[in-house]
Amino acid sequence: MDKQIQLISMTEKEIIDETINFVKVTLQNAEGGHDWWHIERVWKNATAIAATENVNGFVVVLAALLHDIADAKFNGGNEEIGPVTATQFLKSIDVEEEVIEQVANIIRNISFKGGNFTQTFTSLELAVVQDADRLDAMGAIGIARAFNYGGFKNRELYNPTLAPDLNMTKEKYKNTTAPTINHFYEKLLLLKNKMNTNTGRQIAEQRHVFMENFLAQFYKEWEGER
Ligand code: ADP
Ligand code: NI
Repeated sequence: MDKQIQLISMTEKEIIDETINFVKVTLQNAEGGHDWWHIERVWKNATAIAATENVNGFVVVLAALLHDIADAKFNGGNEEIGPVTATQFLKSIDVEEEVIEQVANIIRNISFKGGNFTQTFTSLELAVVQDADRLDAMGAIGIARAFNYGGFKNRELYNPTLAPDLNMTKEKYKNTTAPTINHFYEKLLLLKNKMNTNTGRQIAEQRHVFMENFLAQFYKEWEGER
């Protein structure tokens, strides 16, 4: 009898499809900048960057798909909720322990959080997914996401009397209520110089210039210039 009970393990394709379904359902009511479409864009960016790096593509895809599965900032600051949720899900579909560990470590370390601290875990797969996520915070999409998040948090668009703060601790960065324009100086314009891969750096370059042009036009209009 025992002989007939065979463990049929899923193929990588099936695991990826299951993960896509899980992510879509979980992020159903997510804020517009952190929803399934953000995940899909990061997945595409990650795939493009991974093509130029010697990485485990399966780990890259799973980490890209699961990187925002439970974001600390939407969960009372709980930073383990993301890696734990991803781990539980991957275990439930019998993914290899080693793959799960790599994915969980990427999720744990991907976030920017002000950038003023040293990242402890590194891997080439993290480098790729982090670049992919950072690219989605830049350019036209980055601008759209920033103002959507600002609206979600009821922030001012801009306030000329409140200067950006470039020396925020992780704690302060998480709790800021500053206008959305400040976020460009506190994060978005810093990303270009934080890219890990050559491909990521190249794409970041154009997106950076687009944000600079946007800001120049924004200030012009703010002053009522024609
Ligand atoms: P990280 O986790 O890397 O710190 P976040 O998840 O906080 O990045 O940010 C993701 C995106 O959400 C940002 O790129 C931006 O578009 C938006 N966002 C986060 N914080 C702010 C903020 N204070 N003001 C405007 N947009 C924000
Ligand atoms: Ni993300």
